[in-house]
Amino acid sequence: MTSSGYVMAIDQGTTSTRVIVYDHNGNTIGRIKKNVDQHIRFNGWIEHDANQIWSDVRQLMHEILINLSISSEDIITIGITNQRETTVLWDKNTGEPIAPAIGWQSKQSNEISEDLKSAGLEQFIYSKTGLWIDSYFSATKIMWLVKENPYVQMLIDKNQLAFGTIDSWLLWKLTDGNVHATDYTNASRTMLFNIHTLNWDEELLDLFNIDESILPEVKNSSDDFGSTVLNGIKVPIGALAGDQQAALVGHKAFNDGDIKSTYGTGAFIVMNTGNIPLISKNKLLTTIAYGINGEINYALEGSIFVAGSAVQWLEEGMEIIDNASLSSAYAYRSRNTLPFQDIYLVPAFTGLGAPYWDQKIRGAIFGLTRSTRKEDLVRATIEALAYQTKDILDVMIEDSDINISSLFIDGGAASNEYLHEFMANLLQIDINRPTNLEMTSRGIAYLAGLKYNVWDSIDKLPKTPELLTINFEKELQEDLRNKYIKWQNAVMSAQKFAFDG
Ligand code: G3P
Repeated sequence: MTSSGYVMAIDQGTTSTRVIVYDHNGNTIGRIKKNVDQHIRFNGWIEHDANQIWSDVRQLMHEILINLSISSEDIITIGITNQRETTVLWDKNTGEPIAPAIGWQSKQSNEISEDLKSAGLEQFIYSKTGLWIDSYFSATKIMWLVKENPYVQMLIDKNQLAFGTIDSWLLWKLTDGNVHATDYTNASRTMLFNIHTLNWDEELLDLFNIDESILPEVKNSSDDFGSTVLNGIKVPIGALAGDQQAALVGHKAFNDGDIKSTYGTGAFIVMNTGNIPLISKNKLLTTIAYGINGEINYALEGSIFVAGSAVQWLEEGMEIIDNASLSSAYAYRSRNTLPFQDIYLVPAFTGLGAPYWDQKIRGAIFGLTRSTRKEDLVRATIEALAYQTKDILDVMIEDSDINISSLFIDGGAASNEYLHEFMANLLQIDINRPTNLEMTSRGIAYLAGLKYNVWDSIDKLPKTPELLTINFEKELQEDLRNKYIKWQNAVMSAQKFAFDG
C-alpha cells in the first residue's frame, strides 16, 4: 500500500462536472465543481456539447492542483466516473464530435424504441443485455444519429467514426486519442453488450445495423486505461465506471443484497447480486456492478428518471422556492399546517423509468383544493421521490428474494431531511446517509486506487464516512400504506391521460 500521494476522481454528471482529490485514508483533500449546460430542445430532447464537457474537465483538473498547491507528480492515479448512456460520436482523425452528445434522458429515439418493441424484441434484448428497450440506452441513440445524419455513415465507411459514452470520450481526449476503451459497467448500458458472454453482441449489432469498428474496447472497471499528461507529467488512469455503479463501490456495498440509492438528476437504486445476473420478472434492469481483477459482480437496478431535477424544476421552472436547500423546510411546514393537503405529484417529465417504462406518460398533480399552498406542492414533489423508491424496492425484494432491512442513500437530494425521514417511514426500513454524500467520486477513487496499489484489496479500503441513520417508526406504517395506494392510483391516472391524449 502507498501512503503518500493522492487519487484524483473525475465525476462527470448530467448537471455538473466535479473533480475531487482523496488521500490514502479516504479523506477529501479538495473538490472543485462546474455546472454543465444541458441544451433542451423540442419536447424532451436533451443534449450536451461534448467539447464543453471536455474543456471543463481539463480546466478543473488543472485548477484543483493549483488550489491545493500540489503537483501532478503527487497524483498516483485518476479515475473517471460519468453520467451513463449519454452518447457521443466523434471523428477519430480530428477528435471532434460530429453531433451534440445525446443525453440519457433525451427522447429523439422514442420511435425507434417503439418499433423494436412492436417487433416483439423485448425479451430477446433483455436476455442478452439485461435492459428493457427504451430510448434511455445508447443503442437507439446511435441508430437515430446514423439515420438522421448522412455524415455518420460516411465516417463509418471510412472506418473513421468512434462511439463512446462520456467515460470513453473523456478517456480518448485525456490520452490524446491513444485509447478508445470503456468498462463493463458503461458497456452494459448501451444495449449492445452481452452481459453474459461479456462481448459486444454480434446478433444485436446486426439487428441494429451498428458497425463494430465504432465501439470501444471493454475492460475491467479497475484497469490500466493508459495515461494522461498533466503539466508535463504522465499520470495513469486506473478506473472507469458509470456513476451509479461507482456510488455502490463508494458505499463499499460489496456483499450480495447490499443496496444503495443515489439522488442526483434522477435516482438510481442498485442492489449488488454477486456473481449472478438475476433475472427480473418486474422490469428491473440486470446490469454489471463492477469488474475488478477479472471478476464481475452483477446488480439489479431500478432507474428513476426525475428526482433532483424535480426539485430543480420547483426552483428554476416554477420559481416556487429560491433555493433547492429550502425544500425540506417547506415540506415540513406543509405537513404541519392545517388543513392538511393530500396532494400527489407524478414527476413524469421525461416519462417514467422502472418498473413502468412508460415513455408517453407526462407529469401530473392530483388532489388540488382552494387551500393548496406552494409548500404543499414542494412536499408532494419530495414525497414522489420516496414513492418512486418504494415502487422499485418492492419489486426488487420480489425479484431477488432478499429481505431488505436497510438502505444507503447519497447524492445531493439525500441531504433533504424531510425526504430521509418520510422515506424511512414509508419503506419501513432504516436509512443510512453518509455525512459525506459524494459516494460516486469516492467509489471511482477506490477503483482507481485499487489498480495502482493505493489500497491492496477491497478489505483495505478506508472506513466509510460516518453514517446518519434514521430509524423508521412502526406506527406510521398503516397511514403511509394508504398514501402509497393513492400514489399508485395517481400514476395510473396519469398513464391513462397520456394514452388517451
Ligand atoms: O443513467 C443516468 C445516470 O448515470 C445519470 O446520473 O448523477 O448525472 O443524474 P446523474
